[in-house]
Amino acid sequence: MLFTEIDHVAIAVFDLEAAIKYYQDTFGCEVEHRELVEKDGVEEALLKVADSYIQLLTPSRPDSPVAKYMEKKGEGIHHVGYRVADCAAALDAVKSQGHKVIDDAPRPGSRGTTVAFVHPKTAFGTLIELVQE
Ligand code: CO
Repeated sequence: MLFTEIDHVAIAVFDLEAAIKYYQDTFGCEVEHRELVEKDGVEEALLKVADSYIQLLTPSRPDSPVAKYMEKKGEGIHHVGYRVADCAAALDAVKSQGHKVIDDAPRPGSRGTTVAFVHPKTAFGTLIELVQE
């Protein structure tokens, strides 16, 4: 089993502040980390739930991949991040079985993590992120 934990469920929203307030006021969630990931064109807020996170994300510029995604699909669940011990090994396992990936090699994610995205096309419709802490 390559997954060690669900790291985060990422939810794309148009209004990050309003979404944070909703999770705070409704469910008592606390923001543990915020980050502007300039190269991906996203701003994110991580709300801790036990040992996992809700990751609220919003486009930081109109030409970012998340902005384009939201033009078509609107708000809602964007991807699931699974924690792995070794991102490169997990990515190799996906590729060696002939499945499509978005990142050909692991790269830096937010919070100092190492990540790689697996293509939804051969993953039954879910964009999967492999997250190594
Ligand atoms: Co993510």
